[in-house]
Amino acid sequence: MEKIVILTGAGISAESGLGTFRDEGGLWAQHAIEDVATPEGFARDPALVHRFYNTRRAQAAEAVPNPAHAALARLEAQHSGEVWIVTQNVDGLHEKAGNSNVLHMHGALDGALCAACDHRWPAPLVMAPGDSCPSCAAPAARPDIVWFGEVPYHMERIWQLLDEADLFAAIGTSGQVYPAAAFGQHAGRAGAHTVELNMEASVNARDFSEARHGPASVIVPEWVKGILSS
Ligand code: APR
Repeated sequence: MEKIVILTGAGISAESGLGTFRDEGGLWAQHAIEDVATPEGFARDPALVHRFYNTRRAQAAEAVPNPAHAALARLEAQHSGEVWIVTQNVDGLHEKAGNSNVLHMHGALDGALCAACDHRWPAPLVMAPGDSCPSCAAPAARPDIVWFGEVPYHMERIWQLLDEADLFAAIGTSGQVYPAAAFGQHAGRAGAHTVELNMEASVNARDFSEARHGPASVIVPEWVKGILSS
Protein backbone atom coordinates (compact mmCIF):
# COMPACT_ATOMS: atom_id res chain seq x y z
CA MET A 1 0.00 0.00 0.00
CA GLU A 2 1.80 3.07 -1.23
CA LYS A 3 1.94 5.82 1.43
CA ILE A 4 1.78 9.28 -0.10
CA VAL A 5 2.89 12.42 1.76
CA ILE A 6 2.23 15.82 0.19
CA LEU A 7 3.66 19.18 1.28
CA THR A 8 1.62 22.16 0.11
CA GLY A 9 2.41 25.87 0.00
CA ALA A 10 0.68 29.09 -0.98
CA GLY A 11 0.88 28.27 -4.70
CA ILE A 12 -1.84 25.62 -4.44
CA SER A 13 -4.26 28.30 -3.19
CA ALA A 14 -3.25 31.02 -5.66
CA GLU A 15 -6.00 30.03 -8.12
CA SER A 16 -8.51 30.24 -5.27
CA GLY A 17 -7.70 33.93 -5.15
CA LEU A 18 -5.44 33.86 -2.08
CA GLY A 19 -2.13 35.68 -2.45
CA THR A 20 1.21 33.93 -2.24
CA PHE A 21 4.11 35.37 -0.26
CA ARG A 22 7.01 35.74 -2.64
CA ASP A 23 5.47 36.13 -6.08
CA GLU A 24 5.35 39.57 -7.70
CA GLY A 25 3.22 41.80 -5.43
CA GLY A 26 2.92 39.01 -2.86
CA LEU A 27 2.18 39.37 0.84
CA TRP A 28 5.81 40.00 1.73
CA ALA A 29 5.95 42.81 -0.81
CA GLN A 30 2.99 44.46 0.95
CA HIS A 31 3.90 43.81 4.60
CA ALA A 32 7.17 43.49 6.51
CA ILE A 33 7.54 39.97 7.94
CA GLU A 34 8.99 41.37 11.17
CA ASP A 35 5.88 43.53 11.63
CA VAL A 36 3.13 40.95 11.00
CA ALA A 37 4.67 37.46 11.32
CA THR A 38 6.89 37.52 14.42
CA PRO A 39 6.14 37.46 18.19
CA GLU A 40 8.11 40.71 18.49
CA GLY A 41 5.88 42.37 15.88
CA PHE A 42 2.78 41.24 17.75
CA ALA A 43 4.15 42.59 21.05
CA ARG A 44 5.04 45.90 19.35
CA ASP A 45 1.74 46.48 17.52
CA PRO A 46 -0.97 43.85 18.14
CA ALA A 47 -3.59 45.96 16.34
CA LEU A 48 -1.55 45.88 13.09
CA VAL A 49 -1.07 42.11 13.36
CA HIS A 50 -4.75 41.46 14.10
CA ARG A 51 -5.73 43.64 11.10
CA PHE A 52 -3.38 41.61 8.86
CA TYR A 53 -4.88 38.29 9.98
CA ASN A 54 -8.48 39.59 10.09
CA THR A 55 -8.13 40.47 6.39
CA ARG A 56 -6.63 37.08 5.52
CA ARG A 57 -9.22 35.26 7.69
CA ALA A 58 -12.08 36.98 5.83
CA GLN A 59 -10.48 36.17 2.45
CA ALA A 60 -9.97 32.53 3.44
CA ALA A 61 -13.56 32.26 4.71
CA GLU A 62 -14.78 33.32 1.23
CA ALA A 63 -12.24 31.27 -0.73
CA VAL A 64 -13.31 28.14 -2.61
CA PRO A 65 -11.07 25.09 -3.17
CA ASN A 66 -9.76 24.94 -6.75
CA PRO A 67 -9.28 21.78 -8.90
CA ALA A 68 -5.90 21.13 -7.27
CA HIS A 69 -7.44 20.92 -3.78
CA ALA A 70 -10.30 18.80 -5.16
CA ALA A 71 -7.83 16.39 -6.78
CA LEU A 72 -6.02 15.84 -3.46
CA ALA A 73 -9.37 15.11 -1.80
CA ARG A 74 -10.07 12.50 -4.50
CA LEU A 75 -6.62 11.04 -3.90
CA GLU A 76 -7.25 10.60 -0.15
CA ALA A 77 -10.70 9.14 -0.83
CA GLN A 78 -9.73 6.72 -3.62
CA HIS A 79 -6.06 5.77 -3.11
CA SER A 80 -5.59 2.33 -1.53
CA GLY A 81 -2.74 3.52 0.73
CA GLU A 82 -2.59 6.38 3.27
CA VAL A 83 -2.51 9.95 1.96
CA TRP A 84 -1.29 12.74 4.25
CA ILE A 85 -1.15 16.45 3.54
CA VAL A 86 1.43 18.51 5.45
CA THR A 87 0.51 22.10 4.73
CA GLN A 88 2.32 25.37 5.29
CA ASN A 89 -0.97 27.09 4.40
CA VAL A 90 -3.34 28.46 7.01
CA ASP A 91 -6.38 28.91 4.72
CA GLY A 92 -8.28 25.69 5.54
CA LEU A 93 -8.93 24.91 1.85
CA HIS A 94 -7.74 21.28 2.10
CA GLU A 95 -10.42 20.56 4.71
CA LYS A 96 -13.01 22.51 2.70
CA ALA A 97 -12.14 20.28 -0.29
CA GLY A 98 -12.68 17.13 1.83
CA ASN A 99 -9.24 16.03 3.03
CA SER A 100 -9.12 14.84 6.64
CA ASN A 101 -5.47 13.74 7.02
CA VAL A 102 -4.11 17.29 7.14
CA LEU A 103 -1.30 18.52 9.41
CA HIS A 104 -1.01 22.32 9.73
CA MET A 105 2.68 23.16 10.29
CA HIS A 106 1.95 26.88 10.58
CA GLY A 107 -1.41 26.78 12.35
CA ALA A 108 -4.67 27.99 10.82
CA LEU A 109 -6.55 31.26 10.40
CA ASP A 110 -9.69 29.74 11.97
CA GLY A 111 -7.81 29.07 15.22
CA ALA A 112 -7.10 31.34 18.22
CA LEU A 113 -4.45 30.74 20.87
CA CYS A 114 -3.98 32.15 24.37
CA ALA A 115 -0.47 33.53 24.78
CA ALA A 116 -0.87 33.14 28.55
CA CYS A 117 -2.19 29.58 29.01
CA ASP A 118 -1.86 27.94 25.53
CA HIS A 119 -5.65 27.30 25.35
CA ARG A 120 -6.93 27.01 21.73
CA TRP A 121 -10.41 27.76 20.44
CA PRO A 122 -12.14 28.57 17.14
CA ALA A 123 -11.14 32.12 16.15
CA PRO A 124 -13.89 34.71 15.63
CA LEU A 125 -13.79 36.30 12.18
CA VAL A 126 -12.44 39.52 13.74
CA MET A 127 -9.88 39.55 16.57
CA ALA A 128 -8.59 42.64 18.36
CA PRO A 129 -5.93 43.50 20.94
CA GLY A 130 -7.02 42.60 24.47
CA ASP A 131 -9.43 39.87 23.40
CA SER A 132 -9.63 37.60 26.39
CA CYS A 133 -9.03 33.88 26.62
CA PRO A 134 -12.25 31.91 27.24
CA SER A 135 -10.32 29.61 29.56
CA CYS A 136 -8.06 31.78 31.76
CA ALA A 137 -9.68 35.18 30.96
CA ALA A 138 -6.27 36.79 30.32
CA PRO A 139 -6.42 39.51 27.62
CA ALA A 140 -3.87 37.45 25.64
CA ALA A 141 -5.71 36.06 22.59
CA ARG A 142 -3.62 35.83 19.40
CA PRO A 143 -4.01 34.16 16.01
CA ASP A 144 -3.03 30.45 16.23
CA ILE A 145 -0.41 31.01 13.53
CA VAL A 146 3.22 29.86 13.84
CA TRP A 147 5.34 32.98 13.34
CA PHE A 148 8.98 33.21 12.30
CA GLY A 149 11.17 32.20 15.21
CA GLU A 150 8.48 29.89 16.63
CA VAL A 151 8.46 26.08 16.40
CA PRO A 152 6.27 24.61 13.63
CA TYR A 153 3.51 22.23 14.80
CA HIS A 154 3.49 18.41 14.38
CA MET A 155 7.18 18.14 13.46
CA GLU A 156 7.80 14.73 15.16
CA ARG A 157 4.86 13.21 13.27
CA ILE A 158 5.94 14.91 10.04
CA TRP A 159 9.50 13.52 10.15
CA GLN A 160 8.01 10.07 10.82
CA LEU A 161 5.69 10.41 7.79
CA LEU A 162 8.64 11.47 5.61
CA ASP A 163 10.59 8.40 6.75
CA GLU A 164 7.64 6.14 5.85
CA ALA A 165 6.58 7.78 2.56
CA ASP A 166 6.78 5.81 -0.70
CA LEU A 167 5.88 8.93 -2.67
CA PHE A 168 6.54 12.54 -1.58
CA ALA A 169 5.24 15.56 -3.47
CA ALA A 170 5.78 19.28 -2.85
CA ILE A 171 3.05 21.42 -4.40
CA GLY A 172 3.07 25.23 -4.76
CA THR A 173 5.97 26.08 -2.48
CA SER A 174 9.08 28.12 -3.27
CA GLY A 175 11.21 25.97 -0.96
CA GLN A 176 12.67 28.96 0.86
CA VAL A 177 11.49 28.31 4.42
CA TYR A 178 12.90 25.56 6.62
CA PRO A 179 12.17 22.92 7.87
CA ALA A 180 9.66 22.38 5.02
CA ALA A 181 12.34 23.18 2.44
CA ALA A 182 14.28 20.11 3.60
CA PHE A 183 11.39 17.64 3.30
CA GLY A 184 12.14 16.64 -0.31
CA GLN A 185 15.74 15.75 0.42
CA HIS A 186 14.77 13.95 3.65
CA ALA A 187 12.05 11.86 1.98
CA GLY A 188 14.29 11.04 -0.98
CA ARG A 189 17.08 9.85 1.29
CA ALA A 190 14.55 7.69 3.15
CA GLY A 191 13.63 6.00 -0.12
CA ALA A 192 10.59 7.90 -1.42
CA HIS A 193 10.08 8.86 -5.05
CA THR A 194 9.99 12.68 -4.90
CA VAL A 195 8.15 15.04 -7.22
CA GLU A 196 7.83 18.82 -7.28
CA LEU A 197 4.63 20.30 -8.74
CA ASN A 198 4.99 24.07 -9.06
CA MET A 199 4.54 26.98 -11.44
CA GLU A 200 8.31 27.01 -11.88
CA ALA A 201 11.37 25.26 -10.48
CA SER A 202 11.78 26.05 -6.77
CA VAL A 203 15.14 26.84 -5.19
CA ASN A 204 15.43 23.22 -4.00
CA ALA A 205 14.26 21.60 -7.26
CA ARG A 206 17.47 19.54 -7.31
CA ASP A 207 16.17 17.59 -4.27
CA PHE A 208 13.40 16.05 -6.39
CA SER A 209 13.65 13.15 -8.84
CA GLU A 210 10.68 14.42 -10.88
CA ALA A 211 9.28 17.87 -11.67
CA ARG A 212 6.03 19.04 -13.25
CA HIS A 213 5.65 22.76 -13.91
CA GLY A 214 2.47 24.72 -14.57
CA PRO A 215 -0.60 25.99 -12.73
CA ALA A 216 -1.60 23.69 -9.85
CA SER A 217 -5.21 23.54 -11.08
CA VAL A 218 -3.91 21.82 -14.24
CA ILE A 219 -0.87 19.76 -13.17
CA VAL A 220 -2.21 18.42 -9.84
CA PRO A 221 -5.37 16.80 -11.27
CA GLU A 222 -3.24 15.28 -14.05
CA TRP A 223 -0.75 13.93 -11.48
CA VAL A 224 -3.55 12.48 -9.28
CA LYS A 225 -5.26 10.91 -12.31
CA GLY A 226 -2.00 9.14 -13.14
CA ILE A 227 -1.69 7.74 -9.61
CA LEU A 228 -5.30 6.58 -9.38
CA SER A 229 -5.19 4.90 -12.79
CA SER A 230 -1.86 3.12 -12.17
N1 APR B 1 0.24 26.97 -9.39
C1 APR B 1 1.37 26.38 -8.94
N2 APR B 1 2.36 27.04 -8.29
C2 APR B 1 2.17 28.37 -8.10
C3 APR B 1 1.02 29.06 -8.54
C4 APR B 1 0.03 28.30 -9.22
N3 APR B 1 -1.11 28.87 -9.68
N4 APR B 1 1.15 30.37 -8.20
C5 APR B 1 2.33 30.49 -7.56
N5 APR B 1 2.95 29.29 -7.50
C6 APR B 1 4.23 28.96 -6.87
C7 APR B 1 5.28 30.05 -7.01
O1 APR B 1 6.04 29.84 -8.19
C8 APR B 1 6.13 29.83 -5.75
O2 APR B 1 7.19 28.90 -6.02
O3 APR B 1 3.98 28.83 -5.49
C9 APR B 1 5.15 29.19 -4.76
C10 APR B 1 4.75 30.12 -3.64
O4 APR B 1 5.89 30.40 -2.88
P1 APR B 1 5.78 31.34 -1.60
O5 APR B 1 4.99 32.54 -1.92
O6 APR B 1 7.16 31.48 -1.04
O7 APR B 1 4.87 30.50 -0.57
P2 APR B 1 5.32 29.29 0.34
O8 APR B 1 6.39 28.48 -0.32
O9 APR B 1 4.07 28.57 0.75
O10 APR B 1 5.93 30.02 1.65
C11 APR B 1 6.30 29.18 2.71
O11 APR B 1 6.82 31.12 4.05
O12 APR B 1 6.32 33.21 4.70
C12 APR B 1 6.25 31.91 5.07
O13 APR B 1 4.68 31.03 6.56
C13 APR B 1 4.83 31.48 5.25
O14 APR B 1 3.91 29.29 4.85
C14 APR B 1 4.67 30.34 4.27
C15 APR B 1 6.10 29.90 4.01
